[in-house]
Amino acid sequence: MIGERTMARAGDMLPGVVSMQAARERSLVGLSGASVERIRRLLTRACELRPAAMGEAEPMTILRGRTVATLFFESSTRTRTSFAIAAQRMGASVVDLSSGASSLSKGESMRDTARNIEAMGVHAIVTRAPQAGAAELIHDAVACSVINAGDGRHEHPTQGLLDMATLAEAFGRDREFDFRGLRVAIVGDVVSSRVARSAVAGLTKLGARVTLVGPPHLASKGLACLVEPSAGKPSLLSVEHDIDTVLPEMDAVMMLRIQFERHDGPGLGSAPSNEVKKAGPIASVRAYREHCGLTVERAKLMKPGAVVMHPGPINRGVEMDGPVADGLAGPRSLVLRQVSWGVAVRAAVLAECMGA
Ligand code: NCD
Repeated sequence: MIGERTMARAGDMLPGVVSMQAARERSLVGLSGASVERIRRLLTRACELRPAAMGEAEPMTILRGRTVATLFFESSTRTRTSFAIAAQRMGASVVDLSSGASSLSKGESMRDTARNIEAMGVHAIVTRAPQAGAAELIHDAVACSVINAGDGRHEHPTQGLLDMATLAEAFGRDREFDFRGLRVAIVGDVVSSRVARSAVAGLTKLGARVTLVGPPHLASKGLACLVEPSAGKPSLLSVEHDIDTVLPEMDAVMMLRIQFERHDGPGLGSAPSNEVKKAGPIASVRAYREHCGLTVERAKLMKPGAVVMHPGPINRGVEMDGPVADGLAGPRSLVLRQVSWGVAVRAAVLAECMGA
């Protein structure tokens, strides 16, 4: 995993001795290869930077003189904005490059685009692409920091970190970031979800027990191998197909968006409706809601004190009923808290990767 590599490309650029750890951690490509220490350090830093990142305290200058480029080859609203706000409130300048306006549309390779951006003196590239492995490819091509803002179905590490920061706050685990005893369900289109992969990696490293829930074609039993059990201990990851039996056990339920754009077939990329439609392995949006949607009725199955989450954007009435998303029916909703923590977490990641 890239974040943990021993290769010291950053060291090639810098005079003198650069610690191997700093060299390894100039980028954040995924949580599956990140150490527990790094995850805890980033979450602790996010708590420290939160007031400034959220505009509740004076902006900081720790990234003054640095330039961050957002290079998104896939649509995004909150993630790109959140990175930009985080960078600016830490004192960095931000330049936004969307794929339509970049030379990729003229046939340039992703690697060349990244190298050219770096040659202009950019210190960090925040990238999102539909291809799994894109962030790693860019990391290998440049010497500046690379932060993965989502690569296909692979990982979305800052989403995983913000989910953990939100849970830590909600359950009073924000000093030690020790999640032992917490039970979290990740529900829906798991197989296509980079959010789920990053959340599974991060949550289980901190000791939470995670249950993936969905129909067999979206949450196959094989996904349990995402986490290797440590010797003699039961695995912290399991897969279930019946949401109704799982809900009463959980402290937190993370709903996933149906990833229409990552499925083949009719309906690809189109906005969902409650009409029966086909989109690859999802035969019908209505059936999806019936099988694993968090309806107002279902939310009543959750235990007192449990919380609901969603990475956004939400297809209301499909993955989650509107009143559940808004916290107006049943459990407490952390959906907007997740968005707020996103800014603090991204400030922490930018600061750490750029050595600030
Ligand atoms: C996620 C993404 O794009 O991977 N959204 C996000 O970052 N806010 C989840 C999703 O699109 O379903």
